[in-house]
Formats: sequence, structure tokens, C-alpha cells
Amino acid sequence: MTAYKTDLTQSAVLNSRLHMVIPGGAHTYAKGEDQYPAGLAPVISHGKGAHVWDVDGNRYVEYGSGLRSVSLGHAHPRVVAAVREQLDRGSNFVRPSEIELEAAELFLATVPTAEMVKFAKNGSDVTTAAVRLARAATGRPLVAICRDHPFFSVDDWFIGVTKMAAGIPNAISDLTVGFPYGDLAATEELLRRYEGQLACLILEPATQQEPPEGYLSALRDLAHRHGCLLVFDEMITGFRWSEAGAQGLYDVIPDLSAFGKALGNGFAVSALAGRREIMELGGLRSSDERVFLLSTTHGAETHSLAAAMAVMETYTQEGITSRLHELGERLATGVREAALAMGVQDHVLVRGRSSNLVFATLDENFEPSQEYRTLFMRELILGGILAPSLVVSSALTEADIDRTVQVVAQACGIYRKALDSNDPSAWMGGRPVKPVFRRFA
Ligand SMILES: Cc1ncc(COP(=O)(O)O)c(C=O)c1O
Repeated sequence: MTAYKTDLTQSAVLNSRLHMVIPGGAHTYAKGEDQYPAGLAPVISHGKGAHVWDVDGNRYVEYGSGLRSVSLGHAHPRVVAAVREQLDRGSNFVRPSEIELEAAELFLATVPTAEMVKFAKNGSDVTTAAVRLARAATGRPLVAICRDHPFFSVDDWFIGVTKMAAGIPNAISDLTVGFPYGDLAATEELLRRYEGQLACLILEPATQQEPPEGYLSALRDLAHRHGCLLVFDEMITGFRWSEAGAQGLYDVIPDLSAFGKALGNGFAVSALAGRREIMELGGLRSSDERVFLLSTTHGAETHSLAAAMAVMETYTQEGITSRLHELGERLATGVREAALAMGVQDHVLVRGRSSNLVFATLDENFEPSQEYRTLFMRELILGGILAPSLVVSSALTEADIDRTVQVVAQACGIYRKALDSNDPSAWMGGRPVKPVFRRFA
């Protein structure tokens, strides 16, 4: 394979300018320069399918596109055509447009475990709305989050319990407690400790770990026995585990669930879905006290709903989740084989469901290592692979995957050398990449 000559001069100039005008140099922390090896944080010019080009003219095979939102690939023809058609028909009116109804009906047909749906823009809009609705429905103040899951919302009820809780009063963070994934006994203990106070349990139905047999339905029953609601955060699992979400795949009906990301293939649309009885508290047909449930200026922007409809149609008609799994399977197998061939199979690990793969980089003592992550990402970027994760889009071809595996194999060779020398620093190109959640920059 020819060596890539990655020149990021122009990206470096733009990165400096980004930091001058945007705190963090990016509008999402997960895209930050600190997440990438020193001098290797490309600024993107454009993307098509599974490829992106940076402002220096380098082309990359991209994984985790749009923070997992672009699951069909960039500028997907069906999605773009649907959006384009709406653009000429107006984006937002003083009354609901017919596409709001069509998109809601299509969503409920696609995710049949939900009875009502309300759209918004970001995932956080809808996880936060679920929490408010659960509090209103139960009349209880506390929310229990799965503490093994990394992210639920940009709002105070969640950020208040992270390492970046500055600006959030304890009075708010004290209302959030945690439970462990997969451990019913510990969750029951929590429910008992806060008997009558917990409004909901919120978790991703699955992450890198599949749910233990019967766990999710047992969790729902447990929550209900204590008068508490079960909320699934399907931001990632929705439109990756199956067309009907993880709830469809595992056949468990939560009280409420929150979708976003892949629903819009990069356009801004999210959805709060759930049982009619609870959702109606935000409506005009309930005699109970009204809940202010998602009322956003841009929530029903027509072209984003058109994007969501095109996404849902493409998924069901083209069997996209099977394709994502197939591609991921090929990638996981290739990467594992490459790691084995280079003798780093216990250090470069591929984890998760094949439609949502991540990698872990372990040091000489088999501990997670930001230094080795830096080395590994660096070799990938220099080889034309932009991969903070190995999350596939359906736009990847088998050839893209095979090329990725070749580059991974080279990276694993370097990884082995670093392990043997007990010092990855020679291959890091500077400071290590950093975790998003930390108290100080
Ligand atoms: C599991 C999960 N829930 C919620 C969110 C919040 O979504 P958004 O960034 O669209 O507000 C994210 C975003 O990364 C997420 O991964």
C-alpha cells in the first residue's frame, strides 16, 4: 500500500481560528481537537457516502460519521432528494404541516412499540422531555440513570453528575442517582432506598454489552412494581440494532423512549416516543395537569421531517440494519485478525454490536490507555482512516472495509513495537488524546 502523505497545514490554520471564535474549537466536545492526536485533527471540507475530504484535500474513509448520526452515508441521494423537495415548499408555518402527521405515522409504523411520538431537534431535547414527563406522571422528583452509560443529555439533570458539572447547583445534581447495568438486585435496592421518590430509570437498552437474557423486561417489571417508569435512550440503538430500535429487537416495551441521531441521517430531528397514556399528559385531551412537553420553534421543520421519512423508508425497504451488521462483522473480523497477526490481540480490542463497533487500546499492563489510543488513531489518520470508533455506515463498501483492515494491520505493527519498547511516546506525535469529560482542559 502506498504511504499516505497527510499534510494538515490548512487544517491547523483553521483549528486556530476555530479556537478563537468557538469555545473548544468545535460545536460538539466529541469533535474537539483534543480528541485527536497532536497536529492530526483534520477540518472537514465535505463528505460523500463513507468518505470525507479535509480542507487540505486529504480523503478519508470515515467511521462514526456525524457522531453516529449519518448511518446511510453523507449526502445520501434519497435523503437529499426528499429534503430538496421540501425546501421549495417552505420550512415552518404557523400551523402543523401535513408532513408532521405523515412523519409521525411513519415513525409509529416503523417503531410499533410506541403509541405516540413528538419530534424535536436534538437527542437531549427528548431525553430531557422524557425525564420531565416521568416526573410529572409519577409526581416524583428523582431520576435514576444507568451509571455505566456515557451520555444522556446536555441538560443539568445529567451534566450535573459528570466531571464537568461546573455551573450546576447541587440542588439539581442531587436529584439524579445511578444504577448499574444488568444488576437487578442493585437496582431493586436503589428503588427501595428511594421508595416513592424515583420517577424513572433511564438507560440505553444495550451498549457494548448485550442485555442479559430477560433483563430489560425484568427491569421494566421491577420499575413498575415500585411505581417508577422505564425510559430507553435509543439515540444510538435506534436505527442501528433494528429498524424498530432495540425495543423491537429485544421485544420489550418501555414507557417512554428517545430517538435521534440516525433518524435524520445528519439532519436535525429527534423523537420522544411512548405509551399513549403518558404522552397524552403533554396533550390537550387529558384532564390531568398539563405538562409542557417539547414545544420548540424548529421541532417540526419540514425538511428534517422529510429527511427522517426518507431514512425510515430506506431502512425498511433496503434492510439497512442487516447491512450495517454485515459490514461491521467483516470489519470486526478483519481487525481482530490483523491484531492477532501482529501479536496485539490482547491490546487492540474490538467491542460491541457489529452495527456499532468501538475499539479499546490497552497498554503493557492491559489497562485502557490514552497514549496507545493516540498512537493507534495517528496511524489510522496517516493511513487515510478517520476513526474515533469503528461505527459503520451503510455507504461503506467491502473495499473500504478491506482497506481499513490493511491500515489497521500497519497500525498494529507499530503498536507491537511500542509495546516491546514499553514506551508509546515515540509514535504519538505529541500529547495524548483526552477524554471529553474532565474537570480541567
Ligand atoms: C446515548 C445518547 N443519548 C443522548 C444523546 C444526546 O443527543 P444530542 O447530542 O443530539 O442532544 C447522545 C449524544 O451523543 C447519546 O449518545
